Amino acid sequence: MNNFFFHNPTKILFGKGMVDNLSSELKTYGTKILLVYGSGSIKRMGLYDKVIKNLSQKDIEIFELSGVKSNPVVSLVRKGIKISKENKVDVIFAVGGGSVMDTAKAIAAGALVEFDVWDFFTRKEEVKNALPIITIPTLPASGSQMNGGAVIVNEKTQKKLGTGGSVLYPKVSILDPELTFSIPTNYTAYCSADMLSHIIEPYFHGETENTTISDSLAETVMKIIIQTTPKLLRKLDNYDARGDLMWAATIAHNGMLSFGTSPVYYYLHVLEHSLSGLFDNPHGAGLSVLISGWSKYTAKHAPVKLAQLGRNVFNLNGYNKKTALSTAMKLEEWFKLINCPVTLQEIGITENNFKAIVQNVLSNVTRILKSKDNGSLKDFGERYYSEIQNKDIESLLKFEKERVLNILELCK
Ligand code: NZQ
Ligand code: ZN
Repeated sequence: MNNFFFHNPTKILFGKGMVDNLSSELKTYGTKILLVYGSGSIKRMGLYDKVIKNLSQKDIEIFELSGVKSNPVVSLVRKGIKISKENKVDVIFAVGGGSVMDTAKAIAAGALVEFDVWDFFTRKEEVKNALPIITIPTLPASGSQMNGGAVIVNEKTQKKLGTGGSVLYPKVSILDPELTFSIPTNYTAYCSADMLSHIIEPYFHGETENTTISDSLAETVMKIIIQTTPKLLRKLDNYDARGDLMWAATIAHNGMLSFGTSPVYYYLHVLEHSLSGLFDNPHGAGLSVLISGWSKYTAKHAPVKLAQLGRNVFNLNGYNKKTALSTAMKLEEWFKLINCPVTLQEIGITENNFKAIVQNVLSNVTRILKSKDNGSLKDFGERYYSEIQNKDIESLLKFEKERVLNILELCK
């Protein structure tokens, strides 16, 4: 088990009716707020009216930024920063899915600096300060409600990049499973693919031993996601199933399931961000395709761990490559069962697109390799590329290119 520190400052209010506490929670941080939301789901479900009514009790001045799209764009973030600066907003308040929460976080950081917010995403600048962020997630998949990350698309360059920092953890997140009843069948399944990926990627953390607690917590939560999702798809307003998945999504990506493991380089996520940056597919749909291909790749490259997942999540027997392959098949069968895509073709991506995808991924990886916040290149190489000997940029990029192409081939 590796050394670790854990500090997650987000206050969670979980359960039915918790939105009633909104104004008193929010008032702690200021009286001028920017309400950020998407294209209308919060109005259709009556949440917008409820929120406005609740805030009006406490003399809170509300500015609005609507129209956040899935795979959120930096131009709208810039608009939100302008509104926040002009009106001296105190708090950024997100009501919606991961795209809305990430837009709110980028605004919160960008509102306090004079340079362009995109510099945080290219890692030219570090996020050191941000306005307080409050969230009401209506689609909990990303885990953004309880972590310090944000992912934004630059629509001009088609780069989808992430940034992060301790100041980007929401101060308060209000999680009411009833607010997720209206998520349609396809997005309900994509949510499960995304949260599963947030657990699987750190689970395959490399060489660290004695991560018994993290592994068994991860396996338990994966099992719950795998068993609960098909049940929920039969009855979308099943409160307990929505509640389990809302909390699963939250702990899947807030650090709690990977204590003591090696630091995690989420290479499937980096690859998926290139897919959704270039082709605008839903993030979870990109991930269900990639996990299906990646698990066949992993049956070759990390069969022991994949077989462990098979035994403890799918009740398979055995420790060898055969069990690992059966696990890969089980994962693919499960995605098919919940109607998630398992091939690139199903999300409109063909072999002709591979070159553009590889280029997009490699430019993102180069940015990560050169980033100051990862320490020296050698440290980064030691941490994330135990498989290869030379830790120079060319070797790491060559390895990454081959890995991406191998996985894409298996997703055709
Ligand atoms: O725009 P509206 O009308 O609100 O509709 C949204 C949107 O069309 C709809 N929706 C949300 N809540 C709903 C609802 N529809 C009915 N009922 C509800 N209760 O769902 C659609 C998708 O919303 P979106 O926010 O895009 O989905 P998701 O939460 O999956 O967010 C995806 C974004 O999060 C990023 C992804 O890359 C992607 O851009 N991620 C952020 C992470 C983070 N901050 O830590 C990590 C993740 O791995 C991920 O990369
Ligand atoms: Zn994700």
